[in-house]
Amino acid sequence: MNFSALGLWFSYFLRCKGPNRIHSPFIYDLYFHHILERRPYYAFVGLRKLRAQLLADERVLEGNDWGAGEFRTRKVSHIAARALQPEREAELLFRLVLFFRPKTIIELGSSLGLTTLYLHNARPSATLHTFEGHSGTAQFARRLFEQNGAAEIMLHEGPFAETLPELLFGGLKPDWVLLDGDHRYGPLLQYMNMLKPHLTENSVVVVDDIRWSSGMWKAWKQLCDDPFWELKLDIGKMGILIRRKAQTPQHFILRYPN
Ligand SMILES: C[S@@+](CC[C@H](N)C(=O)[O-])C[C@H]1O[C@@H](n2cnc3c(N)ncnc32)[C@H](O)[C@@H]1O
Repeated sequence: MNFSALGLWFSYFLRCKGPNRIHSPFIYDLYFHHILERRPYYAFVGLRKLRAQLLADERVLEGNDWGAGEFRTRKVSHIAARALQPEREAELLFRLVLFFRPKTIIELGSSLGLTTLYLHNARPSATLHTFEGHSGTAQFARRLFEQNGAAEIMLHEGPFAETLPELLFGGLKPDWVLLDGDHRYGPLLQYMNMLKPHLTENSVVVVDDIRWSSGMWKAWKQLCDDPFWELKLDIGKMGILIRRKAQTPQHFILRYPN
């Protein structure tokens, strides 16, 4: 973690609110019963085993990395330890999908596909599109979906800047999105601008790693200033943007304890 990220985390801990300071019934329910909840779901058992297998997998994946713009080799165990959402956050994403009950989910940044499987298990009836730029990783994720009874997940391989508009202009209307790919200011806003005209009235976008760098933080602040979103929830590592016409626009900085 760099110095500016440390400062951002420090100010988060000073400013975040506990549950007794929330008055909106919708946010209260979301926060109390879904974000803070730790109840294990049946699906978590298998997904935990799968994570352990990935962490022990010494195979090497190679391919063109569109995110970095170069050819790269990566060990599965290395990716599993560093790039995937940690278990706690993957379970939180599962609960967020359960709460919002989306019809069409988009994930930018499939990596090995483990978090994608959490999203799928939370709502198997939803159409799920996931995007990955590294070819070896994309192939691995596709196999993982097949081996885990989720071959219907659609993985789009290639740079987001090409694959995302291709899909959106085909008429897709996403209502739940996870942005967990390119963690840079410009590209993040670019993908959001591509998505916005296609999002439904009640859509939700989860932005990962908002305190990862000053660029990510700047992008998050800019997104929070956009009146397109009624609700903005900052839970530390992630930011959640919600469209909800009936709601007075509000911004919450919420404690998300370990
Ligand atoms: C942090 S990982 C995603 C982790 C995944 N959501 C999970 O929790 O299991 C980010 C992924 O996005 C891919 N990526 C980054 N920038 C990209 C871009 N511009 N186009 C396509 N893929 C990109 C990387 O190859 C990497 O696998």
